[in-house]
Amino acid sequence: MQINVVDQDYYARHGVPHEQLKWLRDNAPVFWHEGDAELGWPGFWAVTKHEDVVHVSRHSDLFSSARRLALFNELPEEERELQRMMMLNQDPPEHTRRRSLVNRGFTPRVISLLEEHIRDICHRLVDEAEGKSDLDFVTDISAPLPLYVICELLGAPVEDRDKIFEWSNRLIGAEDPDYATTPEEGQAAAAEVYAYAGSLAAARREDPRDDIVTRLIQPNEGGEVLTEDEFNLFVLLLIVAGNETTRNAATGGMLTFFQHPEQWARLVADRAMARTAADEIVRWVSPVNLFRRTATADTEIRGQKIAEGDKVVIFYASANRDAGVFADPDVFDIGRDPNPQIGFGGGGAHFCLGNHLAKLELRVLFEVLSERFPKIGQAGEAARLRSNFINGIKSLPVHLR
Ligand code: HEM
Repeated sequence: MQINVVDQDYYARHGVPHEQLKWLRDNAPVFWHEGDAELGWPGFWAVTKHEDVVHVSRHSDLFSSARRLALFNELPEEERELQRMMMLNQDPPEHTRRRSLVNRGFTPRVISLLEEHIRDICHRLVDEAEGKSDLDFVTDISAPLPLYVICELLGAPVEDRDKIFEWSNRLIGAEDPDYATTPEEGQAAAAEVYAYAGSLAAARREDPRDDIVTRLIQPNEGGEVLTEDEFNLFVLLLIVAGNETTRNAATGGMLTFFQHPEQWARLVADRAMARTAADEIVRWVSPVNLFRRTATADTEIRGQKIAEGDKVVIFYASANRDAGVFADPDVFDIGRDPNPQIGFGGGGAHFCLGNHLAKLELRVLFEVLSERFPKIGQAGEAARLRSNFINGIKSLPVHLR
């Protein structure tokens, strides 16, 4: 089989190349994928089986996150500097200190306190959507939801939402012509978010509240605290990591329900299924398709030798369809339980900080939609994002009744 699992045009037209990934899992689970010198990106080991994605994720000593995680377009020096300073692109021990300081804000208990706020946001969004004639699921529902939740989390005033939304769109930096931003625009948005985060922290120092920002700017039990710089960069990372991922999980989930009406009927008949549906949506959609690591020493995966410095790309979307782990992996089943999906990462140091929050958002959104609009349907073609990194949908026309 001809293998090219990074062709952005393919992703724009069809989404994740599941047939090729299946072939790789069955025939060449650690596969040397040629790079493209002309486009300026190196070859890499494509790792496609669940067990191996978990292995790479859990060995950050052997597979470093510190050297650019996405595949394409090496960044200009200033942006690389900014990326380097973000937790996602750091290795232990640098990463460990920051992560332990921010974990406090994202425990299941802290996140569960947000449920009613999230429900209110979902109801408000669909109330507004109800009055519109040309409804787009992305613009009207799935894009504002995670953004408003992050604003709530940060205690950002309602009047700042549009501004933050605009920054977050400029920060996406996708290779899609509809989203393309120049590096200068991305830089400027990052600088604005950075300054804005500083002002949020200053406001909470003056007027502490029972919220995440207040918690994060205070020392932990051991007396350690995030520096101002670390806090501001963390807010930037939240906006980058929390928005697009959740937006695409929700949109991908909705589209999948349109394609599997019997699963939608199950949810409408029993809304309690939204809990297991959230995990199944993340498995099925895998909003983050892949991440790249760099081998720090000579090593092996499944007997295949990997040399120090080699790029290793872990395909979450593939691991999530591995027949060795999931019974009937190509069946979308909202009752799947247990569901060892690894759409939030394969465990280890960088496992998604926002996983409880994202699952709560998905559960509540689909509870609200199935309750209020059991006849919601697709009103036009979905347009996919041109990206091999984010499994994204740019627009999805819907009707509510
Ligand atoms: C890391 C996926 C939602 C914040 C990650 C990673 C993945 C991921 C695959 C990297 C894991 C690794 O390298 O091992 C997703 C998906 C989401 C989602 C699929 C939605 C369905 C969120 C949300 C937030 C968030 C809502 C925050 C509000 C983060 C952060 C990291 C991260 C801060 C970096 C953690 C670290 O480096 O220690 N996410 N994510 N994510 N995610 Fe998420």
